Amino acid sequence: MTHRIAVIPGDGIGKEVMPEGLRALEAAAARFGIDLTLEHFDFASCDYYAAHGQMLPDDWFEQLKDADAIFYGAVGWPETVPDHISLWGSLLQFRRRFDQYVNLRPCKLLPGVKSPLADREPGDIDFYVVRENTEGEYSSVGGKMFEGTEREVVIQETVMTRTGVDRVLKYAYELAQSRPRRKLTSATKSNGIAITMPWWDERVKAMGAHYPEVSVDQFHIDILTANFVMHPDWFDVVVASNLFGDILSDLGPACTGTIGVAPSANINPEGRFPSLFEPVHGSAPDIAGRGIANPIGQVWSAAMMLEHLGHPAAGQAIVDAFEAVLAEGDKAVLTPDVGGQGTTEAMGRAIAERIAG
Ligand code: NAI
Ligand code: MG
Repeated sequence: MTHRIAVIPGDGIGKEVMPEGLRALEAAAARFGIDLTLEHFDFASCDYYAAHGQMLPDDWFEQLKDADAIFYGAVGWPETVPDHISLWGSLLQFRRRFDQYVNLRPCKLLPGVKSPLADREPGDIDFYVVRENTEGEYSSVGGKMFEGTEREVVIQETVMTRTGVDRVLKYAYELAQSRPRRKLTSATKSNGIAITMPWWDERVKAMGAHYPEVSVDQFHIDILTANFVMHPDWFDVVVASNLFGDILSDLGPACTGTIGVAPSANINPEGRFPSLFEPVHGSAPDIAGRGIANPIGQVWSAAMMLEHLGHPAAGQAIVDAFEAVLAEGDKAVLTPDVGGQGTTEAMGRAIAERIAG
């Protein structure tokens, strides 16, 4: 059986880190005997927009829907295309139409990467943020009335469905169950948002009945953000609504150092549609074209993709490889954001060599 991977580098450093992500992916596939078919696409990029006046071809859904996964770089080139057009015209289309209702981000302090939190070491921070990715606070229900007058009123409703909340909670419980600590933390705000959030808490409790081995706690979002900074070691799997998850999934990786290493997955767990794997960072126009972007965000995304496709050992081999390269600390290999003078390619090659073993 072969896995069909749609490869979309996108813009800026997306085009520079993608070859290194593929190098790692192919090294792991070769070592573990995994059959991959890579299909390359130039759309969902601002270059495509310049040529065609839109980010995606009209039949993008047809072209991508049978892929087993989408491996994405980064999108955005604000000098030529406004960010809301590039993002809404590409990534957000994929997330919605492919019902990628889980946004998953590991937050892990890596060897050789300095945490902005004082005295934290690898091992202290190692958790996942699971964000609901399709509904909640990011709804299109609402509107404006009396615009431009003294009576101007604007309303945007939070929409939570039992289907939508239960399925992301189930994913989070399963993930917690699969990890040694078996611990789930729920982000709430039931003291202030007194309708949807107490209901969210009830759903967390109801789902928990199916997972007696998982211990659960909950924090209001305000103190939870403080605890990410003060006690990151408390967390194992953190589950949150769309808005709270958006905030936590930036804060978590920020506590572990450079944005260049953070990966993310947008998952349709049932596999009805392809899931999408991408670094957290964007196209970084400020360093694009210089060959110095850290490739680890892309490489780690490849590891998450292999795990999702049913090859956890291959994913782990990739993680072990970049952790080893970071720990070794060879300045000629490491990119500048982690204290070296190396290039994207030098670091990518060093990682791939380690994977090959
Ligand atoms: P950004 O993530 O591209 O860059 C923020 C800062 O981090 C920059 O100083 C950059 O040099 C640095 N950085 C990012 N990735 C790095 C890496 N791999 N190695 C070393 N340094 C790295 O965010 P920014 O500047 O706000 O956005 C630039 C463009 O990217 C915009 O068009 C934005 O819309 C888009 N974007 C796209 C995302 C995506 O494709 N998922 C996510 C975030 C932004
Ligand atoms: Mg965000």
